[in-house]
Amino acid sequence: MKLIKKIIFAVIFFAVISSANAQKFEGLAKTPPMGWNSWNKFACNVSEQLIKETADAMVSSGMKDAGYEYVVIDDCWQVKRDSLGFILADPERFPSGIKALADYIHSKGLKFGIYSCAGAQTCGGRPASRGHEYQDALSYAKWGVDYLKYDWCFTENINGKGAYTTMRDALYSAGRPIVFSLCEWGDNKPWLWADKVGHLWRTTGDIYNCFDCVEDHGTWKSFGVMQILEKQDTLRKYAGPGHWNDPDMLEVGNGMPVNEERAHFTMWAMLAAPLISGNDLRNMTSATLNVLTNKDVIAINQDSLGIQGFKFAVKDSVETWLKPLKNNEWALFYLNRSKSPKTITQDWKSFSVADDFSGLKLDTTGKDVYILRDLWVNNSIRDTRKALIATIPAHDVLCLKVFMKPVKSRK
Ligand code: GLA
Repeated sequence: MKLIKKIIFAVIFFAVISSANAQKFEGLAKTPPMGWNSWNKFACNVSEQLIKETADAMVSSGMKDAGYEYVVIDDCWQVKRDSLGFILADPERFPSGIKALADYIHSKGLKFGIYSCAGAQTCGGRPASRGHEYQDALSYAKWGVDYLKYDWCFTENINGKGAYTTMRDALYSAGRPIVFSLCEWGDNKPWLWADKVGHLWRTTGDIYNCFDCVEDHGTWKSFGVMQILEKQDTLRKYAGPGHWNDPDMLEVGNGMPVNEERAHFTMWAMLAAPLISGNDLRNMTSATLNVLTNKDVIAINQDSLGIQGFKFAVKDSVETWLKPLKNNEWALFYLNRSKSPKTITQDWKSFSVADDFSGLKLDTTGKDVYILRDLWVNNSIRDTRKALIATIPAHDVLCLKVFMKPVKSRK
């Protein structure tokens, strides 16, 4: 009897301790995570060779220097569980095992990410984590995983917040800090609750490799860059350091013309979105590499205030977007959504913006002069003494950094 009492006491004690400690790992993803994920280009065709070569290419191409850090294997690395229920990697595609692969990625100064799913199976039909959350979290911690993308297939009758909280707690109790990326496509409005659960959450269904289209797969749809962009505008107040809206991974380098790649990348930077490249890093054109490694555009994405941009105006298919930055600077984007070039005129004498969410203001109507630096075209400089007149090609963007010039004043 005494022993039973002791056991009950111990169980209650540990339950109280672990629920008191249940939380996500704080201090991670203070700026939007940057990296690469296998899914958009390779789908289930993953192997340790691909992942190692990608890590090598991330370093040799300059992507790592530009800030890309996480190398994430998406679905299909896993095949079954062992007799004790531990998850096993595909022995043919990952003959050295996941731990050795993580060690390799770490030896390059990069971080390693992996994928699972809250349901009984992953979206690709592989064994997933339902009922194995703590066991899987232990494996990830043991292998040296730094990032977990956690999907939402085969989850009928499962509560979203509950399922993701269970995996959060499992990761926390396994003890290794892991960025937790929720991938439930916005089904359970994660922006309302996931800041306490993970570090980023998908806001929509999957991206499709096109600029402006919807792909109908019968029972589900995937969305082009513009369709995803349209779904983000109302969500900005939920994002910030350590908790980001995730409009899905980049399709830059997967076949869109360079103007569309540029617009896609710039708008993701503006959204303070995770910049997870999804192309073949071993084999990309210099145009794609230039897009992915534009340090000024990346700096807008990685700005330490972590404020998501917003749509300010729309005129004749050109959208004006703004993102407040640290040091009272702003990023100003003009996105031409139409299929023909558009000329814009911006009269600074009447340009005044007050962002209620951040409490920051940009007002060029007074005598202060603001400098406008073009972040895509030769860093060319203009200022607010003269109206801006610019022609933006079809499906392209003009991206300006706006900062005050303290000395001169408008005549
Ligand atoms: C879902 C996710 C994708 C990808 C696949 C893998 O569709 O949203 O990003 O992870 O599953 O099967």
